[in-house]
Amino acid sequence: SRFSIRCSSQKRPQYVPNTIDDPNYVRIFDTTLRDGEQSPGATLTSKEKLDIARQLAKLGVDIIEAGFPIASPDDLEAVKLIAKEVGNDVSDDGYVPVICGLARCNKADIDAAWEGVKHALRPRIHTFIATSDIHMQYKLRKSPDEVVKIASDMVSYARSLGCEDIEFSPEDAGRSNPEFLYRILEEVIKAGATTLNIPDTVGYTLPLEFGQLIANIKANTKGADNVIISTHCQNDLGLATANTLSGAANGARQLEVTINGIGERAGNASLEEVVMAIKCRGQEQMNGLRTGIQTKHIAVTSKMVTDYTGMVVQPHKAIVGANAFAHESGIHQDGMLKFKGTYEILSPDDVGLSRTDESGIVLGKHSGRHALKTRLQQLGYELDGNELDAVFQRFKAVAEKKKVKLLDEDLEALLLDKVFQPS
Ligand code: KIV
Repeated sequence: SRFSIRCSSQKRPQYVPNTIDDPNYVRIFDTTLRDGEQSPGATLTSKEKLDIARQLAKLGVDIIEAGFPIASPDDLEAVKLIAKEVGNDVSDDGYVPVICGLARCNKADIDAAWEGVKHALRPRIHTFIATSDIHMQYKLRKSPDEVVKIASDMVSYARSLGCEDIEFSPEDAGRSNPEFLYRILEEVIKAGATTLNIPDTVGYTLPLEFGQLIANIKANTKGADNVIISTHCQNDLGLATANTLSGAANGARQLEVTINGIGERAGNASLEEVVMAIKCRGQEQMNGLRTGIQTKHIAVTSKMVTDYTGMVVQPHKAIVGANAFAHESGIHQDGMLKFKGTYEILSPDDVGLSRTDESGIVLGKHSGRHALKTRLQQLGYELDGNELDAVFQRFKAVAEKKKVKLLDEDLEALLLDKVFQPS
C-alpha cells in the first residue's frame, strides 16, 4: 500500500435532516456508486459496492446514491442490499445516510428505484429528464411542454409510491434556457420534489456562470426557498470543483461529488477537493459553510475506491495524490523544515494520511543541503561541512542521472560510497 492509513475513532456527525434549518450546513451527496461507476472500466460487484457504501457512511456523507436500479438486476440488488444494511445502520447519535436510487422520468425506472431504496430508513428517488434544447430536440424528440408535463407527472408518481424525499434533475441544465428551467422547476416543486439538482452534465459552464445560474434559480423559481438546491458538476473543462464551490457560494446546500472525482468522461467534482476546500476556506470566504464529513477517513476511502475500481489517482491529484503532501525543491524543503505552514495549507493528518517522513520531504534532484543534512541527522549521521559538501555533490549527481527520489538506503549507500559513484 502506498499509504499507511490511520483510522480515527472520532464520533460520526450528528444527523442533519433534509430541511433548511441550518443555513450554513452543506449536504454531501456521494454518487461514486452511480455516476462514478459509469467511468469506463470501473465496474463494481455488489459486495464491493456494499463495502464502499459502509465506508461512505463512516465518512459521514449525507446521501449515498447507490445506483441506477433499472440498469440491471445486479444494480437493483446492490441498491437493495445497501438500503437494507447501510440505510438502517443508525449510529448512537442518530446518523444514518439517505439511500438514493436514480430513475429516468418514466414509471418503470421509478418503480425499480423505489424497489431498491424503500428498505432504507431514509429512502430517496432521484428522477431526471433533459431540459436543454439540444437534448430535447435530438435525444428525447419532445417539445418543452411535453417535457414539463412528463417531469411533473413523474415526480407526482414517485410521491404516490410513498416516497417523501424526491430529487429532480433537469439534465444538461448548464446548457438549458434559464427561463425554461425556472418553469419546469416550479412545476416539479408543486408536484412534490424536495431537492432540485442542477447538473452541468457536460461540464460546459465557467465558475462565475454556474454560480450565477444557482443564484438566478433561487431568485426566480417560485417555491425554491422551501427546497434544497443542489449541484452536479462534470469535469470536462477541469472546472467541476470550482463550479461546485461557486454553486455553494451562491446558495446550493447539497453538492454531488464522487470519491477521487471518478465518473463519466472526465469525471465529477471530487468529494475530497470540495470538502477540504470548504473546510479550509469555508469559514473565511464562504460565510461559514460547513459539511458533516469526517475528513480523517478521506484517505482510506480514496484508497478503497482506487483498489476496487482499478482507477488510479494521478500523483499530483489534490488532497489524495501521492505527491499532495511531498516537497522536493530545496527552497520549499528549507521552508518546511523551519515551519510546515510555509508550504502546506492542510496537514496530511486532516485527511487521515500518515507519511513515512515527518516533514513530507522527498529527496530528489531539486533538493537542497538543508534537507539532506536533516534527513542524514534523522538517520543518525552527523557530518561536518566538508563531508556534507562531498555527499551533497554525489547526491545531486545521482538524483540528476537516475531521475528518482532517493530513499534512506540510497543515502546510506552514498555515505558508504559503495553503490553510487560521482559522475
Ligand atoms: O450528469 C448528469 O446530468 C447526471 C444527472 C442524472 C444528475 O448524472
